[in-house]
Amino acid sequence: MQEDIKKIESQALGEINNAKDYRRLDELRIKYLGRKSQINQLFSKIPQLTQEERAGLGRRLNSLKEAVSKAIEDKMKDFTAKDKAIDVTLPADEIYFGRKHILSAVSERICNIFEKIGFVVVEGTETEDEWHNFSALNIPLEHPSREAFDTFYLDISARNSKSGKYLLRSHTSPSQIRVMEKTKPPFAVISPGRVYRPDKVDASHSFMFHQVEGFCVDEGIKFSHLKGVLLHFAKNFFGNDVSLRFRPHFFPFTEPSAEVDISCMICKGAGCSVCSRKGWLEILGCGMIHPNVLKACRINPSKYSGFAFGMGVERITMLKYGINDIRLFYENDIRFLTQFYE
Ligand code: DAH
Repeated sequence: MQEDIKKIESQALGEINNAKDYRRLDELRIKYLGRKSQINQLFSKIPQLTQEERAGLGRRLNSLKEAVSKAIEDKMKDFTAKDKAIDVTLPADEIYFGRKHILSAVSERICNIFEKIGFVVVEGTETEDEWHNFSALNIPLEHPSREAFDTFYLDISARNSKSGKYLLRSHTSPSQIRVMEKTKPPFAVISPGRVYRPDKVDASHSFMFHQVEGFCVDEGIKFSHLKGVLLHFAKNFFGNDVSLRFRPHFFPFTEPSAEVDISCMICKGAGCSVCSRKGWLEILGCGMIHPNVLKACRINPSKYSGFAFGMGVERITMLKYGINDIRLFYENDIRFLTQFYE
């Protein structure tokens, strides 16, 4: 009997101590102090015992009952104190919702603007070969213009002599070749993605960044189409009062080629520190697709013509939001990232 009492006591106190809420505590009160409890059953055995045994057991059972009641009471006080510690007048914890990274949001926004005027999104591949990244884009092997597109080469042997070596694409222009090899004109395509260059990382360079490439091929496509499309984009992206300036430039894959500037949105063209007092900010490169590029993709340049353009997502995001260090995009500091809604 003494053994039973000890067992019940340690079990009851243990369970009460582990109780997580009022409900559980009430269950335990019924289990140990209720009419059908083991303790009560032991009480009912008292009349069968001898006089001395009765007194000892009675006292022992009473003190067990008391210990269990007290443990329940203490635990109850514990719960009540904890309830009081919750100050319901305090403001709720802030809930943070995830959101798109600013670079993804801006890429999507750029693509949407072009999609609305009939462009179709096609993503290229990040691993490329020399044919798509260079040769087909009229950048011949050993030509000095390749140096302008410093490249990470991959340590994988070439598929065939035409493909050349494998590499991480250094621009999104190979998307032009991927589409033109497979699709008959007319088409208008917008192609976003990552590009890689072995540049030393600093405030304006990163070994990986993002570009969006656009191109359109049909009969009778002219430079004026390119101008109209880019002006439409710039007004939608930067605001209606933006002006564009086309400066003659050289790219191997376009002829004629141009670099495009927008009027500085800080000083509205008057000249300030952001635009280095020029009043203009460069946003992209573009031109009429070189006949050699069309030929490389078996598109007849005497029948078809096209325009192409390519822009850096980081660059135009930095211009739009006045961000002065490209590294901020990749550090994933939540204080930086949560500032942007696109
Ligand atoms: N691929 C060029 C670069 O990475 C950008 C570019 C310039 C793309 C002119 C074009 C273009 O499609 O026509 O610097």
